[in-house]
Amino acid sequence: MSEIVRAVGLGKEYPLPKGTLRVFSGLEFCLEEGETAAVMGVSGVGKTTFLNLLGALDRPSEGTVRLEEVDLFSLGSRELAKVRNRKIGFVFQFFHLLPEFTSMENVAIPALMAGFPREKAMARAAAVLAEVGLEDRASFRPAQLSGGEMQRVAIARALANEPLLLLADEPTGNLDWKTGELVLRLLADLQARRGFAAVLVTHNEKVAAFCRKTYLMERGDLKRLA
Ligand SMILES: Nc1ncnc2c1ncn2[C@@H]1O[C@H](COP(=O)(O)OP(=O)(O)OP(=O)(O)O)[C@@H](O)[C@H]1O
Ligand SMILES: [Mg+2]
Repeated sequence: MSEIVRAVGLGKEYPLPKGTLRVFSGLEFCLEEGETAAVMGVSGVGKTTFLNLLGALDRPSEGTVRLEEVDLFSLGSRELAKVRNRKIGFVFQFFHLLPEFTSMENVAIPALMAGFPREKAMARAAAVLAEVGLEDRASFRPAQLSGGEMQRVAIARALANEPLLLLADEPTGNLDWKTGELVLRLLADLQARRGFAAVLVTHNEKVAAFCRKTYLMERGDLKRLA
């Protein structure tokens, strides 16, 4: 199997008015092709910080992240944006859809950013929306969607460019248990079909149970539980 993502001696400190806050340091983590990992841990321990570093949405204070053995933080900002756009999909707790755009347009954005002509980007978006069962919501704006539907649109957007790696921060955290279960089953189906690697930050044991590996983040440490 080939390596998808690796954290090497990863550390993050945030500057505070007085001194710095060290969230973690020296973290090691590796995920191979098609593997899924859940990251659990109490609020404030650094899960989102970790996920943001894996996806290069933020820069580490020490160490680095390699995606397919390429050191992400050695790349220039244009190259890094390109890698993020083509190879990584993000799903957030609060969906982060663009309110002025329809479901279809939201899902088409990554393909447009990758340089696909509008027609082709829209055709791709329609196909992925169908994959998450929302073809009949294509022309709706986020405000006209339920929470579960918004998250399905966000998942479609994350998968639009067929990423190698999906990073999801509490993907069911803002949904009732039933809707959360639906979204989880959808993610599991998509993962089985497409075979992307995934890191899911979650408080939900059921989400963790869907993942092959489970980690607990605790006081600056990332421990493998299962
Ligand atoms: N931009 C920032 N500046 C300063 N401190 C920050 C910043 N972002 C996060 N922190 C701090 O870093 C720590 C880890 O935050 P993080 O958001 O990673 O936690 P989390 O595990 O995702 O928590 P939750 O489960 O509540 O989402 C917290 O103490 C937080 O206050
Ligand atoms: Mg968080």
